[in-house]
Amino acid sequence: MLRAVVLACVVNIVLAGKAPTIDLNDGRKMPVVALGTGRGTAGSAPIDEVKDAVFWAIEAGYRHIDTAAVYGDEEQVGQGIAEAISKGLVKREELFVTTKLWNDRHARDQVVPSLRESLTRLGLDYVDLFLIHFPISMKSDGSPDNIDYLETWEGMEEAKELRLARSIGVSNFNATQIDRLVANKNAFRPAVNQIEVNPTLTQEPLVSHCQNLGIAVMAYSPFGFLVTRKHADAPPPRVDDPTLVRIANKYGKNTAQIVLRYLVDRGLVPIPKSANKDRIAQNIDLFDFQLTKEEVAEISKFNKNVRVIHPKGWESYPNYPF
Ligand SMILES: NC(=O)c1ccc[n+]([C@@H]2O[C@H](COP(=O)([O-])OP(=O)(O)OC[C@H]3O[C@@H](n4cnc5c(N)ncnc54)[C@H](OP(=O)(O)O)[C@@H]3O)[C@@H](O)[C@H]2O)c1
Ligand SMILES: *[C@@H]1O[C@H](CO)[C@@H](O)[C@H](O)[C@H]1NC(C)=O
Repeated sequence: MLRAVVLACVVNIVLAGKAPTIDLNDGRKMPVVALGTGRGTAGSAPIDEVKDAVFWAIEAGYRHIDTAAVYGDEEQVGQGIAEAISKGLVKREELFVTTKLWNDRHARDQVVPSLRESLTRLGLDYVDLFLIHFPISMKSDGSPDNIDYLETWEGMEEAKELRLARSIGVSNFNATQIDRLVANKNAFRPAVNQIEVNPTLTQEPLVSHCQNLGIAVMAYSPFGFLVTRKHADAPPPRVDDPTLVRIANKYGKNTAQIVLRYLVDRGLVPIPKSANKDRIAQNIDLFDFQLTKEEVAEISKFNKNVRVIHPKGWESYPNYPF
């Protein structure tokens, strides 16, 4: 019995080591690797796999899960979390759960009700982080609306005051939009901007702009075009890229892990999506090595300002950010 207890403690220490945190501007801490659950890149992958992915991730040491109302998987995320808690792997307060407000709920008085619906699906009393998914607003039929995100932000602040969201932030906001939000003298400055960052979209100007304002940056689609096969003409690097392979061999890692560590070494919080147990574990096995400044600069040279997520159909909508 005593032996089992001692063993459990050792395991906890090791797992805690896999979820280092960064400080947010509201005094809270955010774990630096989040499991992505968005199905965008995966296409028609079955939603049921999300429950297992979330459970495996927590088992592997993840403490941060990223979801969104529009992913349609908050129930599965909640089931994975509930199973991990019921099996004693983790307590709710040790987890950091992020969800997002969809574009068709931007009116001030829609924000808190939308979050309450997300919480019901997740089976949680609060989320750790609630983000405005895009600065763009839409009607329920997907046609453009023109609700100012400053109005939406008032609803976000209400969610924080009610402690339904412990931290609040934005996603896909460009530098102009961040400045306008910060200049508005809100009660709460956004804690986070979640944007696409990867070797072909390195985003140095926007990342440093946010970091200088004390806004943490989460990096979505962290692999860029590393592993997707459907973009045969997309720019490098791919998994077998010689530069990445050389760096990977030096550290005894694979090229996916090098790309994630590159983002961590830039002070970012990457959100790798995987539904595969082994790859989920690999994607957080990043904390026993570190890239040199030269290696970070070398990987940044892949930049082509090309996006994985480029919703061109919204280009004519007010507040289109790209
Ligand atoms: N805020 C936003 O607007 C926004 C937009 C897009 C995404 N996101 C968030 O960011 C998350 C990640 O973005 P993403 O899904 O676009 O792309 P991603 O995480 O860059 O790439 C996911 C793809 O990589 C594969 N993969 C994962 N780990 C791997 C590894 N170690 N080796 C080889 N292949 C690996 C996955 O396949 P397997 O599952 O088979 O491993 C999947 O096909 C989303 O799930 C979502 O949570 C947010
Ligand atoms: C951000 O988006 C707005 C709205 O579309 C646009 O007016 C502005 O020029 C963009 N700023 C940057 C830095 O891209």
